[in-house]
Amino acid sequence: MVERNPRSTKLSKSYLFREVADRVQSYKRKNPGAVLYNLGIGDTTIPLPQVVTQSLSGFFESLSTEEGYLGYQNEQGNELLRKSIIERFYPDTITPDEVFVSDGAKCDIGRLQILLSHLSPVLIQDPTYPVYRDGTLLSGDQSLIYAVCNPENDFFPNFSGSPKLLYICSPNNPTGTVLTYTQLTHLVSYAKEHGALIIFDAAYRYFIQGEQHPRTIYEIPGAKEIAIEVNSFSKFAGFTGIRLGWSIVPKTLKGLYDDYARLHSTIFNGASILAQKCGEVVLQEGFEACMASVEEYRANTKAMRDALLSEGETVYGGEHAPYVWIETKGKSSWEAFQYYLEEKQLIVTPGSGFGKGGEGFVRLSGFFHPSTRSAILDRLACSSYTSTLYS
Ligand code: MLT
Repeated sequence: MVERNPRSTKLSKSYLFREVADRVQSYKRKNPGAVLYNLGIGDTTIPLPQVVTQSLSGFFESLSTEEGYLGYQNEQGNELLRKSIIERFYPDTITPDEVFVSDGAKCDIGRLQILLSHLSPVLIQDPTYPVYRDGTLLSGDQSLIYAVCNPENDFFPNFSGSPKLLYICSPNNPTGTVLTYTQLTHLVSYAKEHGALIIFDAAYRYFIQGEQHPRTIYEIPGAKEIAIEVNSFSKFAGFTGIRLGWSIVPKTLKGLYDDYARLHSTIFNGASILAQKCGEVVLQEGFEACMASVEEYRANTKAMRDALLSEGETVYGGEHAPYVWIETKGKSSWEAFQYYLEEKQLIVTPGSGFGKGGEGFVRLSGFFHPSTRSAILDRLACSSYTSTLYS
């Protein structure tokens, strides 16, 4: 028999969202007439702006012509796209050769984990987006520090244990909270003083409102010496299916920059040229339309938050992020998941699926389609609601 990689045995039996999907399937089998609304996985629901798909169709057809055909391209991503990313999101701080275009932030994190498996201990915010934890467990033998982030510490991790690598996500998945300038400055100072590296996941930056919170770690002086930032078109442009993202690896990271360039071109052949074409249009003619979709998700999230607060729930996040984080008041996270499923016919995500620190919470996502908003609010706000109303 072929031996398993012993690191695989450190992972839980299934990936969180697979487990949620299995439980929902089992409920549907028993209740075939049930109309469920999905506030679980943060998957986008508003169709792509036509300006994006129209530009793609011309480009796609040109691939059937002698002049237009394209094969392998620069693995780092086409230059126009990299320049557009800089103009939109990092003017005057980053250069196009520090941008590595990819098939998404999750895949970039996986590639970075191969490169960074020598850095130990690793700080993981708890609760956490599962990929930081599971990918680390799979790729190396580092020790992990689970830094609990909860209302008592204002969702800000404590650095005890002297981590050398820190995964920081802001706006945060799953808690929906966001770091202030002071908090992020504190993190950057820690990393500079201790020779540590921060992987900063900014995939939800588009949900930040006002000017009180940093949208990129590079707004903090000195961050280019200690931070890699990952980002994605998934959440603001609806590319969860198309797949496109990027990482910023500053040249000031010296050896790491060269090593990442080597690794990226060795195990990745570049994002699909179709996805890159869509990305270019999103950042030019399509940007306002994409931001209009973000506004709709924001309105969903605000409406959910208001409804829950008026029901007397204890709610966190949701103001600068598309997720709200609710205390389950005596129920375990999975009990609360079942309650929402069976009594309100809403799919939520159990907080404990994001780590022990998430026990006693559930996460609700605002990425549902706006046309279902009032039905969802009805179910959330009505304490006397019983599932028989909807089955
Ligand atoms: C989530 O629901 O946490 C996200 O959609 C997962 C992801 O972005 O991969």
